[in-house]
Amino acid sequence: MPSDSIASPTQFSRDDARRYYDRAGSFQDKQGFYEDVALDALVAHGGFAAARSVLEVGCGTGRFAQRLLEDHLSASARYVGIDISATMVGLAKGRLAGWSDRAEVRQTGGGFDYAALGGPFDRAVCTYVFDLLSPADIAAALAGIHAALAPGGLLCAAGLTQGTTTLSRLTSSTWSWIRGISPSLVGGCRPLLLADHLPAGQWRLVHREVVVGATVPSEVVIAEAL
Ligand SMILES: C[S@@+](CC[C@H](N)C(=O)[O-])C[C@H]1O[C@@H](n2cnc3c(N)ncnc32)[C@H](O)[C@@H]1O
Repeated sequence: MPSDSIASPTQFSRDDARRYYDRAGSFQDKQGFYEDVALDALVAHGGFAAARSVLEVGCGTGRFAQRLLEDHLSASARYVGIDISATMVGLAKGRLAGWSDRAEVRQTGGGFDYAALGGPFDRAVCTYVFDLLSPADIAAALAGIHAALAPGGLLCAAGLTQGTTTLSRLTSSTWSWIRGISPSLVGGCRPLLLADHLPAGQWRLVHREVVVGATVPSEVVIAEAL
């Protein structure tokens, strides 16, 4: 059993997620005040310059994809982003329109079979998505991502986690408390220890760190598909 603070989180269903993120829309970009430090770490350790193809699960508004395409991916690298929310897909499509020859964004039903997306991929990006899934869905998403990655491909993930300093511990426990009362107040997300969810025979942990942005702790995980 992974040692997350919440082993059986209050339910936040796929429909809840779709409804919430359809409403949230571009408000998601305001989370940069704590997400950006984790995204910086993903860029530093994700080896994106060597990637020929990237799958992003839960791409949101396409903000990180834009950063990758602008600054870090090679000019021939292909990007596929998927999201359950029509609002998010619309925003991401607009944002990535300038790369339409090699970047596409698709709406999915929220399932975890990524076989039809044109893999295998060299990188699978997933930021602040695992932390809104149930433990069973985290396992299914990891299995789907593993199957979509080429051997040696990298999962590049970031998400809310437990704090490591007094202030960040206070923030993560307050976040968990709010999530326990009403998941929709925090977009369904709760602090998670993603590294503990990686099945040992399938993944090699390449890099893990906890970074803190504005007292909010994020776990950054780079894992190689075996
Ligand atoms: C907290 S937001 C993070 C968005 C973006 N990755 C970021 O870091 O800004 C979670 C995103 O995951 C999407 N999502 C939630 N459940 C999903 C699922 N089962 N499959 C695909 N996308 C999902 C939501 O619509 C939303 O865009």
